[in-house]
Amino acid sequence: MWGGRFAEGPAAVMREINASIGFDKRLWRQDIAASRIHVAMLAANSIVSQADADAIEEGLDRIEDEYQLHGVPEDEGLEDIHMHVEHRLAELIGPAAGRLHTARSRNDQVATDFRLWVRDAMDAADAGLAALQRALVTRAAEHVSAVMPGFTHLQSAQPVTLGHHLMAYYEMLRRDRSRFADARVRMNECPLGSAALAGTGFPIDREATALALDFDRPTANSLDAVSDRDFALDYLQAAAQASLHLSRLAEEFVLWASQMFGFVALSDSFSTGSSIMPQKRNPDAAELVRGHAGRILGALTSLSVTMKGLPLAYSKDMQDDKEPVFEAHDLLTLSLAAMTGMVESVTFDTGRMRAAAEAGHATATDLADWLVREANVPFREAHHITGRAVRLADGAGKKLWELGLDELRSVDERIEASVFNVLSPDASVKSRTSFGGTAPACVKKRIEAARKVLGMDE
Ligand code: ARG
Repeated sequence: MWGGRFAEGPAAVMREINASIGFDKRLWRQDIAASRIHVAMLAANSIVSQADADAIEEGLDRIEDEYQLHGVPEDEGLEDIHMHVEHRLAELIGPAAGRLHTARSRNDQVATDFRLWVRDAMDAADAGLAALQRALVTRAAEHVSAVMPGFTHLQSAQPVTLGHHLMAYYEMLRRDRSRFADARVRMNECPLGSAALAGTGFPIDREATALALDFDRPTANSLDAVSDRDFALDYLQAAAQASLHLSRLAEEFVLWASQMFGFVALSDSFSTGSSIMPQKRNPDAAELVRGHAGRILGALTSLSVTMKGLPLAYSKDMQDDKEPVFEAHDLLTLSLAAMTGMVESVTFDTGRMRAAAEAGHATATDLADWLVREANVPFREAHHITGRAVRLADGAGKKLWELGLDELRSVDERIEASVFNVLSPDASVKSRTSFGGTAPACVKKRIEAARKVLGMDE
């Protein structure tokens, strides 16, 4: 394609380091789509003849069919997907193929193709996140009043409901989706027509090609357009953040599936056995989701470092933009699907969760709060009184709410029978009705709102 200036061909190793077809073949659909729009615009503005444009479009149709049927045949000598398409076009329609590259360069071409690809990846991420949200909301609704220990420092702190806990992840994913949505709005400008770096003297219509490719407008600076990979970084940032949330949920499943917690049994379909220990049932899928987050974060680091030292405009380093994004997309897609499957099929042992919530006097704060609220005791003093009540319960081998009123009154006379309205885990969660709190009534409302947003009621 650039042989005119050179007497000798490239060394084998040069060919190898230069070639990107091994991975950028994944851009073939976008490459053909953008070429179709480009050549139609060239014809509409009399830059190429309608006859040549028709021949080119027919050739592109054929290439599309071939790739669809047989995949992209790889030839390192042809470097990248752009040259593969153009080379095949020349084989199919002859010299007219050479007119396709009028008023464009591979620099604006790859920037356009990659943007189109990343835009689809953003849409796919959004769909995957929404599917996981639906699974979470469904399971949360089943367990809206099931009490479990809430933790700080991984120590039982106060009782919460399983529905509330699951809905926490709904909120995280809601932010993830908004990050992808923001990025999509920001990236939806078309670089095509920026040419190599300076624009072109041909009377092209960038507005028309941008709109035909479903962009909002053409990019406004040709130097920026061919050297900008913010859209890919935005994608990776959003993907990294989402994968980090998936990893936290995965970590909870790993913990909860352990014998010590026993809060969940992962379904057979998302567990594996051990080749040597017949009793084992391992949460491999959850562990891999947790592991994949590391690789997605690695992809973000990789492209960030690639870009940080590049002067304007295009440099070949930027060819390394694609593999991290492809990898992150593949891993995120798989992680989302696996997580959705796990959430849908996991069995929660609500009995074990309740027993854990009942152990360890997790409602001690409720007793202290009651003293403040109902008996006008300063919180610090209430804290102290509660400590004594806990000691009494421990000595008697009872839970706090199993103590009799007389026993509680032996600790502090101001305690009255209405304290039992907050002392059990059920009473405790029911009382936490502040906006966003764990009370089943609040969680139910939030679930209803989420179902509406997710279109689950239609
Ligand atoms: N394969 C190249 C890439 O992915 C296409 C752009 C090549 N441009 C150039 N001037 N060598 O970045």
